[in-house]
Amino acid sequence: MCGIVGYIGHRSANEVLISGLRKLEYRGYDSAGVATIPLLDHPADRPIDRYLHRVRAKGKLIQLEEKLKADTAPQASIGIGHTRWATHGKPEEHNAHPHTNTMGNLAVVQNGIVENYHILRSELKQLGHIFVSETDTEVIPHMIAEFLTQLEKQGNMIPDKSPSVLFEAVRLTIAKLQGAYAIAVIHADYPDEIVVVRQQAPLVIGIGKDENFCASDTPALVAYTRTVISLENGEIARLTRESVQVYNSKGDRLRRAPQTLNWNPTMVEKQGFKHYMLKEIYEQPGVFRTGLAIYVSETNKVDLGLPTGFIEPIERVEIIACGTSWHASLVGKYLLEQLAGVPTSVQYASEYRYSPPPSLKNTLVIGVTQSGETADTLAALELAKSRGDRCLGITNRVESSIGRISDAVIDTQAGIEIGVAATKTFVAQLLMFYLLALEFGAAKGTLTEARSQELIEGLRQLPAYMERILEGQERYIEDLSRQFTHTKDFIFLGRGINFPIALEGALKLKEISYIHAEGYPAGEMKHGPIALLDEDVPVVAIATPGSVYEKVLSNSQEAKARDAKLIGVAPLDDPAAHEVFDYILPIPVVDEIFSPILTVIPLQLLSYHVAAHRGLDVDQPRNLAKSVTVE
Ligand code: G6P
Repeated sequence: MCGIVGYIGHRSANEVLISGLRKLEYRGYDSAGVATIPLLDHPADRPIDRYLHRVRAKGKLIQLEEKLKADTAPQASIGIGHTRWATHGKPEEHNAHPHTNTMGNLAVVQNGIVENYHILRSELKQLGHIFVSETDTEVIPHMIAEFLTQLEKQGNMIPDKSPSVLFEAVRLTIAKLQGAYAIAVIHADYPDEIVVVRQQAPLVIGIGKDENFCASDTPALVAYTRTVISLENGEIARLTRESVQVYNSKGDRLRRAPQTLNWNPTMVEKQGFKHYMLKEIYEQPGVFRTGLAIYVSETNKVDLGLPTGFIEPIERVEIIACGTSWHASLVGKYLLEQLAGVPTSVQYASEYRYSPPPSLKNTLVIGVTQSGETADTLAALELAKSRGDRCLGITNRVESSIGRISDAVIDTQAGIEIGVAATKTFVAQLLMFYLLALEFGAAKGTLTEARSQELIEGLRQLPAYMERILEGQERYIEDLSRQFTHTKDFIFLGRGINFPIALEGALKLKEISYIHAEGYPAGEMKHGPIALLDEDVPVVAIATPGSVYEKVLSNSQEAKARDAKLIGVAPLDDPAAHEVFDYILPIPVVDEIFSPILTVIPLQLLSYHVAAHRGLDVDQPRNLAKSVTVE
């Protein structure tokens, strides 16, 4: 959570910082701020010729932009910026980053949490440092300032290998910090450098010509450069206008070769859609086709690029994930068990860490995460790795931390997703589970060649069906959703392979429309949730032909008998469905095993349009963030 960005070069720092923060707002958006070191026009008139200038605002980035428009400070070509998702301290201006030391000449932005901030804060207070926020971050500038004072007293004697006094003070500071964080630091007395640190929160450096950048994520950089270095945990870098130097925590210089990003700025634009979420919903057929084209040969052979012998010894799978990725994992369990016969369990990453299952030989642990940076998922995977399990990552951000932790990683090929509510990354994760189940089935001999061929042919049909749903239903769902703008509660029902889709439908609605919604296995409704039903509580039932179709229709009848308004994600031309449902969101009839790829789309559209009719900020719902880098 939180996005940080830094710039040193020859452009207007504010412009670069704001443009970067705009691309990072998905990481948090309850307040924002920038700190720069302006160039003074008449330095001779002043006792000092550099000073630190900070502007912060509560609320979304636009509030900060408004403030900056009225700001009269001279231009600067060095600065750091931050967009916040509050952890410690309310989203108020005084808690917004950058935070400074008591003198106000040194500024820090942080993404993450300093866990031992309490003790550090009281130590620093005793030394005379004055704290003005409730944040954990504020200890960092004070501690750097403290080390700078100590170094100064010793005549600024720093180790030969250390490139600067500021660098050395930051290096000494981070040795005292516990937690997972990334920081960027500037100081008015050292106006030609930015010092950045990565410690279990992402930090990428962008390399330009006579200018350098840093940010929590690459979209903030691609408008300026595609040459990047992703820092590893424990690394510190010093950015000047002309150079980027990377060091380990002992201060030893490291040689790091830059990589080139293979995508361009238009990939993170709305391209005519009102919201990123709607654009990303529409991208799903394309994402699905790309995945098939990359991982399935013309002769229908699946190859996810896993190392030779990776799958063969595996006897069981444990999947760890959070949020929407956890729902995709539940479908994955169904597929791995029902298609390939591999015993599979799914756990919330945050639960796995503190109650891992007994360690068994030949277990594959799969971490599923669109951002590749979810702190709980990464920590759970690290734990699995330390127990000797083989680890696989499934993500659309292979350059992220999960790519570094896992023994192998599968790129879902969804590309970057900006809308906070996951859509295309979910569908891409599902496709990877179909393909993984096919690979397992082939490796273990649990799927016949004929059935594999049939399944792959079935997968190939799906993008056209997805397009048909998008083209045929959006207008209808937009109209229908008007009825629910004042609804307070929703129930989503599904069974079998569509139970996770009921959970996902409910989560989407909660996330972006703030309507209370619960997903339930349809057969379980009579054991509790049915007590909630009346004419004000609509029920959305996923009823697709297959092993549980009649059962779901019966469960829906039970809801209808309690006066609930019924919406069916169901085949259009089945009289039985017409009799039960007040409204039908029609789904082409496919083999039940493929139905989640189709049933999720009307639910995404329903939540999108309900939220849009309620006038809510669909892409940036309150209290949420796309990348949850704190535990
Ligand atoms: C956040 C996002 C969700 C996402 C979840 C897991 O809560 O708002 O959309 O499903 O994190 O994220 P991951 O990146 O691990 O898939």
